[in-house]
Amino acid sequence: MSKKTMTLIDNRNGARYDYPILEGTRGPAAVDMRSFYRDSGMFSYDPGFTSTASCRSEITFINGEEGELRYRGIPIEELATGHSYLEVCHLLLEGELPTDEELTALDLEIRHRSFLPEGLVKLFETMPDNAHPMSSLSAGVTALSAFYYEHLQLETDDDYRAMAHRIIAKMPTLAAFAYRHSLGATYIYPDIDRSFTENFLYMLRAYPGGKMHRDPDGPREIKPIEVAALDTIFTLHADHEQNASTTVVRSVASTGAHPYVAISSGIAALWGRAHGGANESVIEQLRMIGSVENVERYIAKAKDPNDPFRLMGFGHRVYKNFDPRARILKTLQDRLRDELDLDSELMRIAQRIEEIALNDDYFIQRKLYPNIDFYSGIILTALGLPRSMFTPIFVIGRTVGWISQWIEFKKSPESKIARPRQLYVGK
Ligand code: CMC
Repeated sequence: MSKKTMTLIDNRNGARYDYPILEGTRGPAAVDMRSFYRDSGMFSYDPGFTSTASCRSEITFINGEEGELRYRGIPIEELATGHSYLEVCHLLLEGELPTDEELTALDLEIRHRSFLPEGLVKLFETMPDNAHPMSSLSAGVTALSAFYYEHLQLETDDDYRAMAHRIIAKMPTLAAFAYRHSLGATYIYPDIDRSFTENFLYMLRAYPGGKMHRDPDGPREIKPIEVAALDTIFTLHADHEQNASTTVVRSVASTGAHPYVAISSGIAALWGRAHGGANESVIEQLRMIGSVENVERYIAKAKDPNDPFRLMGFGHRVYKNFDPRARILKTLQDRLRDELDLDSELMRIAQRIEEIALNDDYFIQRKLYPNIDFYSGIILTALGLPRSMFTPIFVIGRTVGWISQWIEFKKSPESKIARPRQLYVGK
């Protein structure tokens, strides 16, 4: 029988080191090299952690070559088309889809926990006018740790649950308040008669007194198709295994810091253009391109090795065939275009970029395909959502993933403080 080990040989002196191979339930196996430094006095060198598994996880699985994404074993296509975001939250947190009673209980709890402590609302006033909502959101989440300091000591499963449900429920309210402050507009408090996703749109759009914009033929109510589209976007963003922001959340968890501070650090990491900030950058870039005629010129810039210009919304560290989330959103975009009768120059530019890039050798050879952010920015624009809220919307969806990963980290007996080594090349 073959041994489940890997032998490393130091060719300088012939020293041999044996390491166990750990088999997962799906995906590549991993070599357990925890004792490598102790055994050999050397470090492994892996900038960007491209070949390093930092934990065991049961939450999310990605097969980048096949374009596969599963939460707790269930394919994303099934979740995005057949289940609500709150069902997905239950799945990620508890490992199973909820029963009808569990879903009702979760839904009601989230509605009732959606309010912010009044003291925290004042925090937004300290922010400058026009503050980007991501700044206020991240500050607001850090401040939540002061209001719920007791979550530093979690003992029972119910303690963990209350902490997780609270942050999931309050994130849309924090994001909506951050946005309204950036406009200098009155805050709209949550309406517990509305579902999670509808409530978020309501807090962004309503006028004081909870009135909706009035057209000549009556108030402009939130359309079910808009709620369904945004709910799908939340589901597609809900988790993505050990990406940059989740790695940050786990690293902060490893120091014993408050869970909401770990989430706030995740928000900061997500903001960058190479990660969640890409959805905002996609729209900025489409606007800069300006018209379908200019697309080829910008594609040439993206291909020029001497030009730092990159096509935003293209490429992914893990997906090297297609991003399954992007496929779902492309279908959703086409549906919205038909049902809401949407057509815009931005959509036409995006379509042209897609057509050229998907048939161009530069992109084919480097396996660069449209990612989730390419379509989410376009869909959110079509839904009339402001560009500055695209990354906060990613945050709302991802909160459940971060907190599920935080809990998994806390409960794992293998967890250790994150402390990589370095190859010193200085004086
Ligand atoms: N446009 C043009 N060329 C690109 C692009 C792009 N968007 N992305 C990668 N390349 C090229 C890159 O120049 C390099 O070419 P060469 O081999 O000639 O040097 C090659 O492709 C490999 O690129 P890399 O930077 O080594 O790849 P990576 O896996 O480290 O980076 C990425 C992944 C997502 C950071 C990168 O593709 C990128 O910057 N994309 C644009 C930003 C974006 O859309 N980000 C959202 C990611 S999805 C949402 C999320 O999960 O956060």
